[in-house]
Amino acid sequence: MARVFSGVQPTGNLHLGNYLGAIRNFTRLQDDNECLYCVVDMHAVTVWQDPKVLKNNTREVTAAFLASGIDPKTHIVFNQSGVPQHAEIAWIFNCVARVGWLNRMTQFKEKAGKHRENASVGLYVYPNLMAADILAYKATHVPVGEDQKQHLELARDIAQKFNNDFGVEQFPIVEPLILDSAARVMSLRDGRKKMSKSGASDYSRLNLNDDADTIALKIRKARTDSEPVPDGSPESGDRVSRPEAFNLLEIYAALADQPISQIQNEFGGQQFSQFKEALVNLAVEKLGPIGAEMQRFGVDPKYIDSVLFDGVERARSIAEPIRDEVHEIMGFLRG
Ligand code: TYM
Repeated sequence: MARVFSGVQPTGNLHLGNYLGAIRNFTRLQDDNECLYCVVDMHAVTVWQDPKVLKNNTREVTAAFLASGIDPKTHIVFNQSGVPQHAEIAWIFNCVARVGWLNRMTQFKEKAGKHRENASVGLYVYPNLMAADILAYKATHVPVGEDQKQHLELARDIAQKFNNDFGVEQFPIVEPLILDSAARVMSLRDGRKKMSKSGASDYSRLNLNDDADTIALKIRKARTDSEPVPDGSPESGDRVSRPEAFNLLEIYAALADQPISQIQNEFGGQQFSQFKEALVNLAVEKLGPIGAEMQRFGVDPKYIDSVLFDGVERARSIAEPIRDEVHEIMGFLRG
């Protein structure tokens, strides 16, 4: 039995990429592992968040976890800021990680953009906090989408350097769990861009709380090209030449839990308008119940808060002794 850790930021607009790339896999790891799933509110505030909205977004991510089938009794669902050990260990990692390592992080470059001087220091050291999230529990397996791969490599480097510097075997070297299918769901408006919470147009993503009509509308409006659905033959193109077409095929395959080749056998050569109707039906069938459950939890914030409160207590009881071990290793005096 492995210990699994993953996190999702409460920054609104949870979408199909978050679900297929991460949250659905969280639920699949529950049977054989001990899982901690965290709403990473301290990561969210590396860019400006309206405090009132942040509370609701934290509840919304929690509701999405539960609606997707995560069991908060057997596993631990909690919000990051409730467990101070994340910040404590992150500080130590700020002293272990090198500036050169952080300078290579592509996500910082993307998020800070041209105004790097004006980005928060928190955004810069974001990956150190991420390493602390995982290693505060000595978790070994981390399910994420493709975009988090570089951050997890950094977490491995930090664990290794800490162990080497102090001559200990304190931290495990984490294993990213990035599935082949839907590890990178692309925008419905531009198949070369990742589907993201911050995509300017709401039509670029399927949100987990979209109703059936909205899902249908967004899929029908999704960008495609003028060719029929690729049938797998070399003439029918590839992901590079037809990014939007392949993105829709991949979404269908992931939702149906089938290999993409099977979907190509079934729909290859058809017009996209036909294929899109099948995708609408499948997406509504799979996402509809999750949206409805999220709505049900939405009217019961007290229940959601009680899940987080309970999770925080249980998470702390694991992280506290690990923090104590780290302090001992560092040579911090303890009363
Ligand atoms: P966040 O909140 O941006 O995204 C949550 C999860 O969704 C995945 N994801 C996608 N997967 C496929 N296609 C997409 N278009 C797509 N967009 C997002 C992300 O890869 C992620 O798994 N830094 C993390 C949160 C975090 C974390 C951690 C994760 C904080 N601490 C410790 C693992 C372990 C983040 O920003 O995720």
